[in-house]
Amino acid sequence: MERRPATDVFHDWALRGKDEGMERGHALSVAEMIDFISVKSEQRGTNFSAVDVGCGNGWVVRILADNQFCQQAIGIDGAAAMINKAKSIDSENQYILAELPSYTPNEKFDYIHSMEFLYYLAEPEKMLKVFHDDWLKDGGWAVIGIDHYMENEDSLSWPEHVGVNMATRTINQWENAWNDAGFDNVEHWIAGGEDGVTLVFVGQKS
Ligand SMILES: C[S@@+](CC[C@H](N)C(=O)[O-])C[C@H]1O[C@@H](n2cnc3c(N)ncnc32)[C@H](O)[C@@H]1O
Repeated sequence: MERRPATDVFHDWALRGKDEGMERGHALSVAEMIDFISVKSEQRGTNFSAVDVGCGNGWVVRILADNQFCQQAIGIDGAAAMINKAKSIDSENQYILAELPSYTPNEKFDYIHSMEFLYYLAEPEKMLKVFHDDWLKDGGWAVIGIDHYMENEDSLSWPEHVGVNMATRTINQWENAWNDAGFDNVEHWIAGGEDGVTLVFVGQKS
């Protein structure tokens, strides 16, 4: 199948309402990722800012914004129809239409959340380093989930099936990339319940 930019494909998905299926499909895994952020923020006991990178229709931004300690939650996505939908649902929080990796935020965050975004980049390792160096405050955490990786064999047909390039890495390669990017306290687990396949990595900027 012809390969298209991911943001073009997801723009079409939003127009066809397929963002809602993604939201349902990712909910169990994302709940574990949000729990991680909630526990860390409760331990810290101070207000936090968070960004959801590749936010789709913004459903995670709205969950983060409901946290008692959240003072700012913003969503970034390169698909215009996703951002339009997010803005039509929610006028309280900020949604930014921007293509990664070229966009740089003008502030730093306590948490970066990202679900099913990173492998759409040609060089996800570089993005991890930029997240660490330029997007996170000292002490902040990145929490990133992906379903497409070498050990998840069912996912290996997705680039052809969806018609989008994907950076396919092993779990070990991802672990090296997180460490090389400068993150400390790097951990990973498989999220999503009994049949879950989401590879979640977390790491802190010291
Ligand atoms: C699989 S969807 C996941 C959406 C959302 N995180 C969720 O869980 O429902 C991937 C999202 O990443 C966005 N995306 C992919 N590549 C991107 C890029 N280079 N810059 C900005 N957004 C991108 C797409 O537009 C899409 O909304």
